[in-house]
Amino acid sequence: MTGGRTLLTGATGYLGGYALHGLLQRGEPVLALVRARDDAEARARLWTALDLHLPRDTAAAARWLGDRLASGQLAVARGDLRQPGLGLDPAALEDVTSVLHVAASLNRRSEKVCLDVNLRGGLEVVLVARALLERGRLRRYTHVSTVAVAGRRQAEVVGEDEAASFERSDFDPYARTKKFAEHLSARLLPGASVVIARPSIVLGDSRFPETTQFDMVQAFVRLAQSPALPFDPAARLDIVPADFVAEALVRLHLAERPRHRIYHLAAGTASPTFREVTDAMARARGRRGPVYLPRLGAPVAAALGTLSRGRSTVARLAALLDVFWPYLAWDVVFDNRRVTDETGLVPARFPDYCPGLFRFAVDGGFRYPHRPAPTAALEPQAVVV
Ligand SMILES: NC(=O)c1ccc[n+]([C@@H]2O[C@H](COP(=O)([O-])OP(=O)(O)OC[C@H]3O[C@@H](n4cnc5c(N)ncnc54)[C@H](OP(=O)(O)O)[C@@H]3O)[C@@H](O)[C@H]2O)c1
Repeated sequence: MTGGRTLLTGATGYLGGYALHGLLQRGEPVLALVRARDDAEARARLWTALDLHLPRDTAAAARWLGDRLASGQLAVARGDLRQPGLGLDPAALEDVTSVLHVAASLNRRSEKVCLDVNLRGGLEVVLVARALLERGRLRRYTHVSTVAVAGRRQAEVVGEDEAASFERSDFDPYARTKKFAEHLSARLLPGASVVIARPSIVLGDSRFPETTQFDMVQAFVRLAQSPALPFDPAARLDIVPADFVAEALVRLHLAERPRHRIYHLAAGTASPTFREVTDAMARARGRRGPVYLPRLGAPVAAALGTLSRGRSTVARLAALLDVFWPYLAWDVVFDNRRVTDETGLVPARFPDYCPGLFRFAVDGGFRYPHRPAPTAALEPQAVVV
């Protein structure tokens, strides 16, 4: 235990749910910032975010969360990144000594939304941390960024310190705003203990087939189902499981003295090739992997906008590819030696665990079968036996 409370943003999201579970499992007190109309809705939203991680027995799961709410280990604050001071009563931050900022918009198509959430909202989070710093109460500010800040590159292994550069063009508004959000924390929190954690492509969990995030999974499933792909089969794909990302994130956030300021939560040079990934996914269906036609890469990339119009299977695949193309075609991996050396954690390889994820996603129609929140058990004073 670190002695203070962690203000966690993004707890209702995919990685935020992992981080919340990881912190609570370790006995850490958490103040979760949640968008909701009332407290009951906020608690129900946290139940949904934790559903993937809680025991399958619903009574035991309700007890797990209900106990943490009743004991105060988990406090919930309704707010919004885009409101001044996150829309929080300053008294809610009384025992907060660290901030784990996970929330973001991943809407790669909307500059407006990315600007609003990742920059306007990111600034508010940094200002809250800065107020704690000025009162001598900020133990750590951990910012979840992305390897996408590395911008346009081709066939490289990228180290942490040379990744983000304003000399380089970005793929999309998401990457651009995440890069500037890193810059905000560097400039506005001088002297603070800041950790920037940059996950690469996060897909599934190496311990079980289930996931609650499907966008990228859907893109890979469609790719593996395609008879031909316009990519280089030897291009590497830096993919990591969410369990690795979350464990590393929580350990770095709680570490007394992290050795570095920036960490790539990535697969690094052990990243699989495109062919390894699609062959493993195809094998899960008892099929052969796609044929690769790398020469078609440039014309297909140029035509994606047009191809994605309409509702045909080709149009749906083109729309997914249009968003994720840069991350699929760049053959860029991210040096992960800082995190592996410091934590001893090594990410499982995607081809080794993707067949289960593939079957779960396809069989379930790309949806997670969430259990309804047992609202009575999650009442603040509930004593669950
Ligand atoms: N998933 C990946 O593959 C990946 C890879 C690299 C980096 N990352 C980074 O990891 C972080 C989490 O990503 P994720 O995949 O977990 O995203 P996610 O599932 O979309 O979750 C986003 C979270 O941000 C919250 N949020 C958005 N706008 C907000 C606002 N105005 N006020 C308060 N909260 C707001 C959402 O709250 P609501 O539930 O209320 O919308 C949700 O809890 C992000 O910083 C992302 O850049 C993710």
